[in-house]
Amino acid sequence: MQLMYYNNILETIGNTPLVKLNATVSSVKATVLGKVETFNPGHSIKDRMALKMVEDAEKAGKIKPGGTIIECTSGNTGMGIALAAAVKGYKCIFTTNDKQSKEKVDLLRAVGGEVIVCPTNVTPDDPRSYYSVAEKLSKEIPNSFWCNQYDNLSNRQAHYESTGPEIWTQTEGKITHLVVGVGTGGTISGTAKYLKEQNPDIKIWGIDTYGSVFKKYHETGEFDEKEIYPYITEGIGEDILPKNVDFTLIDHFEKVSDKDGAMAARDLACREGLLLGYSAGSALAGVIQMKEQLTEDDLVVIIFHDHGSRYVGKIYNDDWMRDRGFLDTELKIYNLINQKSNTELYEVESSHSIEECLQLMKNKDISQAPVTKEGKIVGSISLTRILAYLLEEPNKDMTGSVEHIMESPFPIVDINTSIKDLNKYIEKEGQAVVVYDNLSQAHIVTQYDIIQSL
Ligand SMILES: Cc1ncc(COP(=O)(O)O)c(C=O)c1O
Repeated sequence: MQLMYYNNILETIGNTPLVKLNATVSSVKATVLGKVETFNPGHSIKDRMALKMVEDAEKAGKIKPGGTIIECTSGNTGMGIALAAAVKGYKCIFTTNDKQSKEKVDLLRAVGGEVIVCPTNVTPDDPRSYYSVAEKLSKEIPNSFWCNQYDNLSNRQAHYESTGPEIWTQTEGKITHLVVGVGTGGTISGTAKYLKEQNPDIKIWGIDTYGSVFKKYHETGEFDEKEIYPYITEGIGEDILPKNVDFTLIDHFEKVSDKDGAMAARDLACREGLLLGYSAGSALAGVIQMKEQLTEDDLVVIIFHDHGSRYVGKIYNDDWMRDRGFLDTELKIYNLINQKSNTELYEVESSHSIEECLQLMKNKDISQAPVTKEGKIVGSISLTRILAYLLEEPNKDMTGSVEHIMESPFPIVDINTSIKDLNKYIEKEGQAVVVYDNLSQAHIVTQYDIIQSL
């Protein structure tokens, strides 16, 4: 027996698994595998290149013990650098932009990084941009090294040395298509270079966003500033041409919308059990957009860059999704309860008189209520039912108990039911459903509430 351990956390970087996708790619003829980079210690693929940039800088004497590493990063590269810095004893300062998840910034601070948040909507050469601030700091702080993941070619070299060979070995050289979201271009260029050296026929598809310059530049050679506008997707697309993007290795760029990327990421979580970042969804959506070009004989590898925990307040938050118009078809009962100021359930005792019941409905401004007996719901009563009783019953008696005129109980419906599906429960005017929230508190949702929410 031998002790089995790594000498430090950096030794666990790489050798991530390939996982076959099933439900989310049922419409795609090819076999589709995800390279799940969340298994890296910083939960993203960027651990690979972060360590490489730091170690190459050490070898070149660009940083000495006790020095400061500076980087502009949307979070993942920062996390990789922070892990390397923690083990190797460097300080780190990160500049990021105000579009990034708060979770990402908090995580960088948690691993000892100083984070400076810069505005997104300024040009890269503006002194306030996160590129310019990083560059300025690197000039001011002695013994500091600015990694500059965009133009530092150690970035793509890391993928040439690790990601590419891993995929080649794991697929026994049978990979036919590599699909990768492109930001700095390091992942796609390094991995593609290695794979194309093994088999030049492997197709390399880059995933781009609307609002980024890559696709047009690749297809026309023109850097078109009109292509640049703000977008929501994180990690991919650029308003610059980083040196790490080797356009000659990329066969096609596919643009994916913010909504499609977000929806596909949610699908990966719910239907494959893969809780991944935004760009993973974009990459999957890109494959589905391109499915007509794939056959049964193809073996597609999609790189899944990072973990979903960094997006819980964003793509995995229904309110965030709905605010951006991404979830318009999926309004659920719990959203309706959140929106309404009052869905409190007022109950009527079955022994109460019809008169008392009417008084309660008037006081509370409600049109229907469940009827209870000894704490249990036994029926329902509505203004419509009381009116029918008053109009149709010759011997009407307002002192008679509600029990005699009540109708069947309102259906109890799961709080996650979509509003669309509520139709089957709401059969006639005035009817409602009862919903229990996570704290077991009952709420009533009426036909009127549903109409208002729509
Ligand atoms: C979540 C995510 N996806 C995709 C990418 C793009 O990878 P690359 O910079 O290697 O092109 C990044 C890079 O920052 C990222 O953080």
